[in-house]
Amino acid sequence: AGSFENFQDNDSGPLAGGLGDVMGSLPKALARRGHRVMVVVPRYGDYAEAQDLGIRKYYKAAGQDLEVNYFHAYIDGVDFVFIDAPLFRHRQDDIYGGNRQEILKRMILFCKVAVEVPWHVPCGGVPYGDGNLVFIANDWHTALLPVYLKAYYRDNGLMQYARSVLVIHNIAHQGRGPVAEYPYMDLPEHYLQHFELYDPVGGEHANIFAAGLKMADRVVTVSRGYLWELKTVEGGWGLHDIVRSNDWKINGIVNGIDHQEWNPEVDVHLRSDGYTNYSLSTLDSGKRQCKAALQRELGLAVRDDVPLLGFIGRLDGQKGVDIIGDAMPWLAGQDVQLVMLGSGRGDLERMLEHLEQTHHDKVRGWVGFSVPMAHRITAGADVLVMPSRFEPCGLNQLYAMAYGTVPVVHAVGGLRDTVTPFDPFADAGLGWTFDRAEANKLIEALGHCLDTYRNYGESWRRLQERGMSQDLSWDHAAQLYEEVLVKAKYQW
Ligand code: GLC
Repeated sequence: AGSFENFQDNDSGPLAGGLGDVMGSLPKALARRGHRVMVVVPRYGDYAEAQDLGIRKYYKAAGQDLEVNYFHAYIDGVDFVFIDAPLFRHRQDDIYGGNRQEILKRMILFCKVAVEVPWHVPCGGVPYGDGNLVFIANDWHTALLPVYLKAYYRDNGLMQYARSVLVIHNIAHQGRGPVAEYPYMDLPEHYLQHFELYDPVGGEHANIFAAGLKMADRVVTVSRGYLWELKTVEGGWGLHDIVRSNDWKINGIVNGIDHQEWNPEVDVHLRSDGYTNYSLSTLDSGKRQCKAALQRELGLAVRDDVPLLGFIGRLDGQKGVDIIGDAMPWLAGQDVQLVMLGSGRGDLERMLEHLEQTHHDKVRGWVGFSVPMAHRITAGADVLVMPSRFEPCGLNQLYAMAYGTVPVVHAVGGLRDTVTPFDPFADAGLGWTFDRAEANKLIEALGHCLDTYRNYGESWRRLQERGMSQDLSWDHAAQLYEEVLVKAKYQW
C-alpha cells in the first residue's frame, strides 16, 4: 500500500484519506472472492492486534544497511504485515515529514522489503509461490516495487512468474527528484532511461511514477473519467505521453464503498447524541432526526425546512473548498445552512474559521479530521458539495448517495463517472454537476438543486432513492480488479 505523500510537497493532507479507505476494503473483498491476500504497510504505531514475528532482515537503502522487523495480524481473512524500522517509527505522528531524500529513502526501503515479504513472512498459510503472485502497488510511493521486481527478480529468474499492477490514485504526486539521486535507488545503470523525463515544470529529472508505469504489467486508475483525463496535457501532469503509450494495459475501475463502515443502517457514529440509524424504508424520519441532531450539535437553528449543505475534504487546491468561499456572497443571501469539515492548508483553515465567524447564523467551519463528524454530516446534510478541481475517484459523493444525501459536483474524473446529472423530464439521474471549477458555475448548479429541494419534493425524494438503491459495494469493483489480475498473469 502506498503511504506517503509526494516528496515535493510535504504540506498536504491528513494521514487517512481515500487511499487508506481503499486499502481497508479492497483486500477484504478480494479475500471474499477466494484469493489469499496480504497487505504490506509501514509500522507507524503500535497496532495492538499485530504480533512481532521475530524475523530480522537487513536491507540497503540510500547506501545504508537498515534492520527491519515484521509484525503480523490476520483480520477479516487478510494477512496484514507491518514493516518495522526506525525510519518509519520516527514518523509516527508525521508520516509525510522529512526532506526529499529522507522520504525517498523510506520509499526505497519499503519497496525493497515489500517485494520480498511473500518469501520471508509465510503467515502460516500455504506459501506464496511466485507462479500465483501478483503485487498491487499504489501511487508513486510504491511505484518502485514493479521496477525492483523486474530488475532484480524477474530479469534473473528469481520470481520469474510474479506480476505487478500499479494503481494510480493521484497523478499529481509523482516522486520527482534530481537525476543525481538515481544511485540512491540501487538499480542497474540502464534502468535510468525509464526514470528520465523532461517537462517545463520539472526540467530534466528522475520520475519514479514514470518508471513504475512503464514497468508494471498492468495499471489501474480509479475511474474511467480520470483515465481519459490522464491522457490530456491538463490532466496528465507531465505523464500524459507515458499514459497514452501504455493505454493498452490501463483500466479505470471506480472504488467501492465499505458497507460495514459507510451504511446508514449500521453506522456506529449514528447511535448516540440524538442521531439514528436508518435505511431506505425509514429514510424520511431517519434523515430528519439526523439532520436535527447535526443542527443541534453544530449550534445551528434546528429547522427541517432549511436545506443543509455539507463539504468534507482535505483543505487543498484539489478539493476546491475556496470555490465555496467564492460563492459565499450568494450563499449568504440564501436561506441555507452550510457545514464544512476538513484540515490542511493554513490559509484555507483560516477561511473556514472566518466564514463561520462572519456568517454565524448559517455557516460552520470545522477545522480538523474527525471520522465521526464526517459520518454525521453525510447523514444529516441534504446536499454534499464537491467542487474538486480534479478528482481521480472521490469517495464522499459515493458515501453521500448511500445516505440519501444528494451530491452537487464538478463534473471531473470519478465525480463525472458516478454522479449522472438529474434529468427532471426523464426522472433520472443522481445529482447536479457543473462543468468548470468556478463559483458562478457552482452557484448555477446549486440554484437548480435548491429549487428542486424547495419546490419539487417528490423529485427530490426519488433522487435520494435512486442514490440509495445503487450497488456501490466493493464486491463489484473487486471482480473488476480480479479480471485485471488475471490479465496481469496471462496477457503480457
Ligand atoms: C486519492 C484521490 C481520490 C480517490 C482516492 C482513492 O485520494 O484523490 O479521488 O478517491 O485516492 O482512490
